[in-house]
Amino acid sequence: MGYHLEKPIVLVGPMGSGKSTVARFISARLDIISLDTDVKVEEIAGKKIPDIFREDGEEAFRHLETQALKYCLDTVQLIATGGGVVGEECNYEILRRGFVAYLYAPVGVQYQRTLALNNRPMIDVEDRRKRLKELFEERHPRYKQVADYTVDTSAHPVKECADMIINELLEKHILREIADGTD
Ligand code: S3P
Repeated sequence: MGYHLEKPIVLVGPMGSGKSTVARFISARLDIISLDTDVKVEEIAGKKIPDIFREDGEEAFRHLETQALKYCLDTVQLIATGGGVVGEECNYEILRRGFVAYLYAPVGVQYQRTLALNNRPMIDVEDRRKRLKELFEERHPRYKQVADYTVDTSAHPVKECADMIINELLEKHILREIADGTD
């Protein structure tokens, strides 16, 4: 059995919400290619995200992120976005070309999951928990605003989160099962 997808799946949510991991599970189950906007940003810039922030500033990063987002929506069926993608109004209409799933996680969980990360400039501060809380307060309403579906990644194992998104897509007829070879 194969699948036909009407529009790309776009995962949004804060750092540590599990976007890349959930994308891996969806990608494996539907046999579709997934791309992280962060990976594309680094490819366009030819350097790592912390270096972009340090050498060129956040504004330059956001500009690259919009370019990367457009590229991903045009080329792949599954996109894991960076946590700050909802900060720019101009990204909304690009995001809405896809089915947007918001991977929610409470701040405490975001904090635990990002503890070992040292390549996230936005939380490269003394009080990381406080920073994550500030970002969450600012961005949560925006994630909700663009989302077609929300899943709490602290309440279910990653594979189940992926399955919940797939089930929602099937229910909404955005994803259809097809007999192999008929697409
Ligand atoms: C950012 C999140 C990161 C990355 C960049 C900025 C943010 O992506 O895009 O460091 O502003 O929240 P992840 O959400 O994949 O960690």
